[in-house]
Amino acid sequence: MDIEELQRRLDELAQQAVTTLREAGEREEAIQIKNRYLGRSGSVQELMVVLRELPNEAKPVAGKAINQAKSQIEEAFSARLDELAEEQLQRQMREEAVDVTLPGRRQEVSLGHPLRQVERELIAIFDELGFDVAEGPEIESDYYNFEALNFPPDHPARDMQDTFGLVDGRLLRTHTSPVQVRTMEAYDVPIRIISPGRVYRCDSDLTHSPVFHQVEGLLIDEGVTMAHLKGTLTAFAQRCFGEGTKIRFRPSYFPFTEPSAEVDVQCIFCEGEGCRVCSDTGWLEILGAGMVDPNVFEMSDIDPERYTGFAFGMGVERIAMLKQQINDIRRFYENDRRFLAQF
Ligand code: PHE
Repeated sequence: MDIEELQRRLDELAQQAVTTLREAGEREEAIQIKNRYLGRSGSVQELMVVLRELPNEAKPVAGKAINQAKSQIEEAFSARLDELAEEQLQRQMREEAVDVTLPGRRQEVSLGHPLRQVERELIAIFDELGFDVAEGPEIESDYYNFEALNFPPDHPARDMQDTFGLVDGRLLRTHTSPVQVRTMEAYDVPIRIISPGRVYRCDSDLTHSPVFHQVEGLLIDEGVTMAHLKGTLTAFAQRCFGEGTKIRFRPSYFPFTEPSAEVDVQCIFCEGEGCRVCSDTGWLEILGAGMVDPNVFEMSDIDPERYTGFAFGMGVERIAMLKQQINDIRRFYENDRRFLAQF
């Protein structure tokens, strides 16, 4: 082989190498291609043998030509590696890209269970009216739940169908009124408390749950009259259901109050016009109330000649259902996020 032939072969090989390198799909492939030409038994290396056979004066020219071909291939190789690295980087950036135009995920903030919200609101209203919060146990004795509240021994409310009794003779309180008795025992008059809490009755339908919540009120002092009761409950109703909300008293009976009343608020849906919710009466019954029965005072060692007082009790679920327009009491206890998230 002469020098021209060598030059021609080198050009051809370099050309070939550069073209195939340009098409190499990945780093490994590029390395293999480079080795095929420049490796120990690569096709450029093989031409080194030819170099030895050339006449001495041709050797430097041939050597230079071989080196040129080598560096041409090396350059194409490293250019391709750079390209591949850049492609790889672009691909990765595309795959890991963050779409800053996507709407963010909302951090949910809980304002509490709808029942708790209403309970808190009731406590805040009575706090403003000067009532302290008092609490009592949910497991009660017959004495606190019934006897000290002047329930006659054969009163139907004591019937085991309404009251959950425990095997030891105690019971789950059926109302928050036992806290009245506990407060009268523990504190001196004047007394002005509300008592929020859980109560239990064997009853279950769309508007009754075996476990529910009440807020009780008790105020005792000298000279307390029914007018104070009415004024307090009017102030409460207007804060709870809106300014101008009217209330009315209907005669009723509770063993621990005399006289007793059931208290209605003007229907908050039709404002007294009559609608489905108020069964066309224009009124919604929301609480029981009355003047503390002298017998109750006597049993708790408060002088009924000197002191008078009023008490009232309301169901938190009932008020929450009205205010939040919920028609099935069970919604409160199912823990369905779709329901709870609305409040
Ligand atoms: N404790 C009564 C009930 O659960 C409500 C009430 C409380 C009535 C205080 C009058 C006075 O039905």
